[in-house]
Amino acid sequence: MRLLIKNIKELFQVEETAGSSYKNPDMSLGEDSAGTKADTTTDANVQAVSLADYSAGTKQFRDKVCGKDMANLPSITDAFLLMEDGCIVSYGPMHDLSGTDVQADEAIDATGKYVLPAFCDSHTHLVYAGSREQEFVDKIKGLSYEEIARRGGGILNSALRLHETSEDELYDQALVRANEIIGMGTGAVEIKSGYGLNIGDELKMLRVIRRLKETTPLTIRATFLGAHAVPAVYKGRQSEYVDLIVNEMIPAVAHEGLAEFVDCFCDKGFFTCAETERILEAGARYGLRPKIHANELALSGGIQVGVKHNALSVDHLEFTEDAEIEALKGSVTMPTLLPGAAFFLGMKYPPARMMIDSGLPVALASDYNPGSSPSGNMKFILSLATIIMKLTPEEAVNAATLNSAYAMGISDSHGSIGTGKRANVLITKEIPSLWYLPYAYTSNLIDSVILGGKVVSRG
Ligand code: NIG
Ligand code: FE
Repeated sequence: MRLLIKNIKELFQVEETAGSSYKNPDMSLGEDSAGTKADTTTDANVQAVSLADYSAGTKQFRDKVCGKDMANLPSITDAFLLMEDGCIVSYGPMHDLSGTDVQADEAIDATGKYVLPAFCDSHTHLVYAGSREQEFVDKIKGLSYEEIARRGGGILNSALRLHETSEDELYDQALVRANEIIGMGTGAVEIKSGYGLNIGDELKMLRVIRRLKETTPLTIRATFLGAHAVPAVYKGRQSEYVDLIVNEMIPAVAHEGLAEFVDCFCDKGFFTCAETERILEAGARYGLRPKIHANELALSGGIQVGVKHNALSVDHLEFTEDAEIEALKGSVTMPTLLPGAAFFLGMKYPPARMMIDSGLPVALASDYNPGSSPSGNMKFILSLATIIMKLTPEEAVNAATLNSAYAMGISDSHGSIGTGKRANVLITKEIPSLWYLPYAYTSNLIDSVILGGKVVSRG
């Protein structure tokens, strides 16, 4: 299946110059045009990387974008994009197409429209049972998130509902959400367990995630989050619950190969740094890389613990000061911000500007979950990042594509437009500029979504 998008007003987040995208000669674009492509890139936004760099293997795709570079979103105006067998095979300026004989099974005319990599949402809890609008109203009436949690609401409320829901029913509910986020432009998503809080129910959640992997066009990464809260039956015996996670749950999850990552809610009132370390060390013994909830409710030390254990990401970070930023500098850990949760809970936002201005990368994710962020709309996350956290639209798009792919360990294949990368892209409606996307914060501006080279949603 060969799919061509042509007349793209601007193609964003390109990895290579137009020239380098012709390095695969096995395309019906013609020898002559292939030979001359290296000089055709005149667009000022495209970083100069020569075709020779890629052919010689000296230039790799970017794995993330940091600090000042986040303001730069490489693009090609008046572009085409050709995809085949699930991958991007070629792209460049439209004038490179003229006179060539590109045979495509389907051609989409994107006149007046923008094309971006599909969003990467590196932190969600989208497998859950039911919903929690009762607590939403409790919060409106003045109860805090921690008070609701103490009264057996919050995560424990979702755990009870999940326990009473069959695996099939849980899958059906999650599938609706998976299809919903596809329609909103998401192509890759991380999904956590953590509403089971006992072996059987944690495995049930992870099996549902596996089934979503098998049955949807999304790229999915699974995270085991047994340490999301202490279940009611372990009240007052938190260390015994940590023993259970370390000695039984992690081995069982690894035995079935159900997760790539391990997570722990390292925060005031939840799990301590010492408990988090035990869990991360146990995860590491089974090949599970950490991605942890840290510093949402306090200066918990979670960021430092994550960095120490080579976490792929530390997420939330509402409570971040100089020491945390210093810890993150030079690390492999992606600071991941979830402004949807701060918005929904009416809490403070992480200091995103300070992070970027200090040279750090940041990623954005939705935190889609029933308690603190009942939305997986990544376009709205772009709006929160720009309107409230003062990222520029270009920084926000970098954070929601390539950097969020990094936070799932998939930036070699996702999060940008590069030859050989997975053909996951979104086409906007006709809009005046890229900036319009976060600006028009309630408009549905996603026209079509293409995942694995196939159109999976048409607006
Ligand atoms: O990421 N912070 C911890 N966990 C979720 C909330 C989950 C819930 O309330 O159900 C979060 O915000
Ligand atoms: Fe979360």
